[in-house]
Amino acid sequence: MNKTITIIKGDGIGPEIVTEAMKVIDAIGQKYRHQFIYQEVAAGGNAIDQYGTSLPKESLEKCLNCDSVLLGAVGGPKWDKTDPSIRPEKALLSIRSEMGLYANLRPAKLFPQLSEASPLKESIVNQGIDFVVVRELIGGVYFGKRSTTTENNELIARDEMSYSEHEIKRIAKIAFETARKRNKNVISVDKANVLDTSRLWRRVMEQTAKDYPDIQYTNMLVDNTAMQIVKCPSQFDVIVTENMFGDILSDEASMITGSIGMIPSSSLGNGTRGMYEPIHGSAPDIAGQNIANPIGTILSAAMMMKYSFDMARESENIEAAVHSVLNQGYRTTDIMSSGKIKVSCTEMGKLIIENL
Ligand code: IPM
Ligand code: MG
Repeated sequence: MNKTITIIKGDGIGPEIVTEAMKVIDAIGQKYRHQFIYQEVAAGGNAIDQYGTSLPKESLEKCLNCDSVLLGAVGGPKWDKTDPSIRPEKALLSIRSEMGLYANLRPAKLFPQLSEASPLKESIVNQGIDFVVVRELIGGVYFGKRSTTTENNELIARDEMSYSEHEIKRIAKIAFETARKRNKNVISVDKANVLDTSRLWRRVMEQTAKDYPDIQYTNMLVDNTAMQIVKCPSQFDVIVTENMFGDILSDEASMITGSIGMIPSSSLGNGTRGMYEPIHGSAPDIAGQNIANPIGTILSAAMMMKYSFDMARESENIEAAVHSVLNQGYRTTDIMSSGKIKVSCTEMGKLIIENL
């Protein structure tokens, strides 16, 4: 098969980790006789420096004209004072929205080899952590009207949060379909005791649940969910929630696995074209030192193969290689523990390729 991948290396550790993922993709291409063609584009802080905008038109066009996008990470303190309309994060939000990627899947899965790295008690970790956060990605307060104005001699800021039925319905379907391929349990997370958007969310979720009688469905309030994720993470299979709650809960979920550097994500819309990225940020503090963990990005490439390219075998091959390397005791700095072998970002990439 021939597949064109738009590459956004981004900022901070982005270029290092994406470079390793591209080497893995190339190796898979050779092994299974696919041709992966890259079109690399600028987005994020580096694009602001070069072009004065975080998302040049040409970059967006290439995201819209390809088979999928692989992204490292964008942003960093250097651009913290940049005008909000061109901030690095703005690029990410625009790509998500322009590509129509409303469904963001963020798995929280404990690698048994790394269970010691979890900040949770052993008795909790031993019950297992294996769930996925299905986050609505192009609606809610992230994309509502916003303003900062002066009223009565003081500044007042507003961010509008809105959800329409169709936006909720389509993400509900994704959650139930995802659960069907997993342990058939969906927990929808909202703040229906306070917010109108949440009350509508719950209504549409409950309606949709009726079409999936084989799936166990419950509602949970977001504050309680934050608590339950650290208290009893084994109860979760699929969590579905709106954009901002999903942003927050998915960071919490990744943290309890002890290895934020290992977790991939997919963002999809109605077609097969998606965007794939590790869930961690650009980690400017360790950029350029060849110590970042490329596994989250490499597993994102694996997700791309499975969900966008219909290459399940290739995807499983990458996942198995990652497991082998961990079993052999190799660790990047972020997941290092005593008795293990510390390797650099490039060494980790190389080891994974050797284990394909
Ligand atoms: C994420 C990030 C982004 C988000 C930022 C960088 C805009 O935190 O992908 O979770 O809030 O969606
Ligand atoms: Mg986030």
